[in-house]
Amino acid sequence: MKPFSQFFIFLVIVLATSYIDAFTRNDFPEDFLFGAATSAYQWEGAADEDGRTPSVWDTFSHSYDTGNGDVACDGYHQYKEDVKLMADMGLEAFRFSISWTRLIPNGRGPINPKGLLFYKNLIKELRSHGIEPHVTLYHYDLPQSLEDEYGGWINRKIIEDFTAFADVCFREFGDDVKLWTTINEATIFAIASYGEGLTPPGHCSPNKFINCSTGNSSTEPYLAAHNMLLAHASASKLYRLKYKSKQRGSIGLSIFAFGLSPYTNSKDDEIATQRAKDFLFGWMLKPLVFGDYPSEMKRTLGSRLPVFSEEESEQVKGSSDFVGIIHYTTFYVTNRASASNFPIMNQGFFKDMGVYMISTGNSSLFEWEATPWGLEGVLEHLKQSYNNPPIYILENGKPMKHDSMLQDTPRVEYIQGYIGAVLNAIKNGSDTRGYFVWSMIDVYELLSGYTTSFGMYYVNFSDPGRKRSPKLSASWYSGFLNGTIDVSSQDTIQLQRKFSGSSSF
Ligand code: NOJ
Repeated sequence: MKPFSQFFIFLVIVLATSYIDAFTRNDFPEDFLFGAATSAYQWEGAADEDGRTPSVWDTFSHSYDTGNGDVACDGYHQYKEDVKLMADMGLEAFRFSISWTRLIPNGRGPINPKGLLFYKNLIKELRSHGIEPHVTLYHYDLPQSLEDEYGGWINRKIIEDFTAFADVCFREFGDDVKLWTTINEATIFAIASYGEGLTPPGHCSPNKFINCSTGNSSTEPYLAAHNMLLAHASASKLYRLKYKSKQRGSIGLSIFAFGLSPYTNSKDDEIATQRAKDFLFGWMLKPLVFGDYPSEMKRTLGSRLPVFSEEESEQVKGSSDFVGIIHYTTFYVTNRASASNFPIMNQGFFKDMGVYMISTGNSSLFEWEATPWGLEGVLEHLKQSYNNPPIYILENGKPMKHDSMLQDTPRVEYIQGYIGAVLNAIKNGSDTRGYFVWSMIDVYELLSGYTTSFGMYYVNFSDPGRKRSPKLSASWYSGFLNGTIDVSSQDTIQLQRKFSGSSSF
């Protein structure tokens, strides 16, 4: 690297760190969990090995030219090496998901012994290295057979099938898994998969941006979300009745949470921001905490918003022991009707929400501005409006071009800024209990395939062996976790200077 760019990065770190209050791992509660995450389709590969069958994500990725998860990081074969990397790094927890079609290839019915063995081995490996597993049951990968049979999440039949899948997972893995997330980022999953056609199974109404083979953007997101809440509640009820007293774990739902802040200090923008919060957070959190949808949504959507029966409302209310938060960036909100500077967000849910969202950063979907104050705002809002629920930040991280340098200084700055925000929130009374970097290693990305990545380990996807190399962020996180890095001191700068890009810890 040229001396000038080295000096520039050095200067950026000096400036960035001088704005952060000093903190270390020890400033967080001892039982707070610091981890990193991946998901099955994005990490495992081995897509048609040992009895696994296609999920809607296989089908979706094979219909676009952004690559696919057939091999991904080859985690299915290299899990032991990856757990070793995690342990060397000092990771306290690892969040991963279970591929439904690896475990139950037909979506319901017989268990695949090889799939079962893989997850048992992975969990055992994690435990033997003192790493806490955090398991997500559903991460965009519905069995294709269930999509074909009845349309997946838009049909109530999913509730029974999802609960039966969860039952197998609790029974088989529950002695060693204490943290369960039922559905990954359920809010944006419903929007992007059933309204925008952006993520699997890719449903949307006909529009000029994306060609979906099926869908109705004005009804399906609400229907899918309703069934997700019911499926989550049903799995949670089962866990509490059948497993909790013995296994002593917790079960939660995760939502995607943008930071939201009024564009101006006008009353109008304040009201618009509250409306955005009702739509983006309240849609799932109001039912989970209070048993029904926000009245603002009921008013706007009328008969397009499904209704909970009294019994369902009782079952959904209180069904989450914690709230999982997926957070990346912040938007300013203003009271201009139904649009955004992302054209893709101008139909379905975002149109219904009826506010204008302005990115705090570059207007590309992949250039997310680090706005730690936005996360602090989310945590404060949840504390005040939803009875201060226990929270896990299940994803936070920075996308960069996949082949950019191993010296990922912007990612280090991003992560340390957000960890600082979590600490501030805790000091202000938020019951946040864990923080997971997305992602542990470069994976097959949901929106961008192999072109951008978030990993703390670089993966060479052209190498048949999928060689891993630590980035600066891996060294930084490791130093932070083992207490050799104090965030606001000169330590980060020292680390950056010493980083050769090839070292282990
Ligand atoms: C959202 C999803 O949970 C994950 O699959 C995705 O790769 C990351 N966040 C980044 O977009």
